[in-house]
Amino acid sequence: MSYPSNTVHYLLMVAIATIVLCTITAFHWNVTGSTYVYNYAPAKKIDHQGEKFLAYLPHSGLSNQRNELENALLLASYLNRTLIVPPAFLGHIGGWQSNDHLFEYMDIMTRPRPWWNRCKDKLALADGPCHSKSRYATVPWEYLHSSIGELGIPMRSIRHVSLDKLKAMLTLSDDEIHIQHDTSLYTWFLCDIPHEECPTLDPTVFETGRRRTYDEQWNIEDLRAIEKPLIHLQGVFGTDRVGVHQKQHLELRNKIREALAYRNPTLEEVTDKIIEQLGGKHQFLSIHVRMGNRQFLKPLHKHIEEQIEFLEKAQRGPGNSTSCGDFQIYVATDAHDPRKSPELAPVFERFPCAKVLGDYKDLLPSLESDTGVTLFQPPQQSIVDFLIPVIDAMVAGHAKDFMGNPSSTYSTYIEQLQSVYKLSS
Ligand SMILES: *[C@@H]1O[C@H](CO)[C@@H](O)[C@H](O)[C@H]1NC(C)=O
Ligand SMILES: *[C@@H]1O[C@H](CO)[C@@H](O)[C@H](O)[C@H]1NC(C)=O
Repeated sequence: MSYPSNTVHYLLMVAIATIVLCTITAFHWNVTGSTYVYNYAPAKKIDHQGEKFLAYLPHSGLSNQRNELENALLLASYLNRTLIVPPAFLGHIGGWQSNDHLFEYMDIMTRPRPWWNRCKDKLALADGPCHSKSRYATVPWEYLHSSIGELGIPMRSIRHVSLDKLKAMLTLSDDEIHIQHDTSLYTWFLCDIPHEECPTLDPTVFETGRRRTYDEQWNIEDLRAIEKPLIHLQGVFGTDRVGVHQKQHLELRNKIREALAYRNPTLEEVTDKIIEQLGGKHQFLSIHVRMGNRQFLKPLHKHIEEQIEFLEKAQRGPGNSTSCGDFQIYVATDAHDPRKSPELAPVFERFPCAKVLGDYKDLLPSLESDTGVTLFQPPQQSIVDFLIPVIDAMVAGHAKDFMGNPSSTYSTYIEQLQSVYKLSS
């Protein structure tokens, strides 16, 4: 029976060839993967032709990171340095850390893994970790704010936040880098007017009237005197941290805030559909109720009373179970299940028709179809959960009247969105 035996041989050879090919492919993948991660091409010293750089380390939730980016953009512009822009972190990310630990933390959070490349290959998407869920994902800021590039402030986006990698990218040696070593979350603040006019005794009262203690006062001139090609800061968080006393500085900050409104066609499309159901742009009322953090829970009851009062005043016409009155109401919140939350119960008792993002769940899956999904690192099977706070803010930002939570940076950002969106419509 030679015929079947030939077939067996033939099949055997095909099988062996397949195994060999697969092994080579896997090996090749592995090699390109690790090359991408670990080997920096040996580069000749780059002549930056006078271009200098400013870098910083992000931390804390997205609204705080956006405040950090705003401060860093102002500083880069004041110092005429190209800003090294880290990615935006969605989901859970740690807060400020002492003793330079933030460098290490950021490096670990953003270091590319060989399997990330494989996940972009649709056929391999079922592969191990590509299916796992992570607590955070990074995207380039341009994904959230597409007009950031129009600011005219030179920027270079990085995905892997690593001092070593930055040194290699810019071909800088250690003595060409000025590193700021923070000793506290609020180590320094920058005064943007001439030295002699800067506050001397109590540099802790700021334009918003709030007091905050920074350890040191810096002046633009001090920073300009630093000649090194790279100034690497650590934390830059704080609402009044980078002064805007000069008129052109205040104008620049307004421009930056405008550019840092959410702009992304896919996110806008989903938002627009929700807004349509709420009666249209600037045709509904909104409040933001922050739950997640203990810091916000204690005064919550009082805030909610104030917010109900605000809604009653802003509302015209009587409310009942099918209508809030003339305006619909949208509640932006991080409450896990808003309608079952005892804290939120007074809102829904008074305004049973008030809406939350969960009421528009069926509109969210279209976020997954965007090509932007491939920008998420680590790769995600689903990006919807990460974008819920973004959409929530975008919807609330289109309200006619809005009342947030006084100590939440997320609320502050919705107020900024509101003014930008009103201007642009
Ligand atoms: C800003 O830096 C660039 C180099 O990146 C230089 O060409 C330019 O002259 C500088 N501008 C000022 C006002 O110093
Ligand atoms: C609720 O209010 C709307 C508008 O004010 C009105 O058209 C509707 O009849 C009211 N429904 C009830 C049950 O009172």
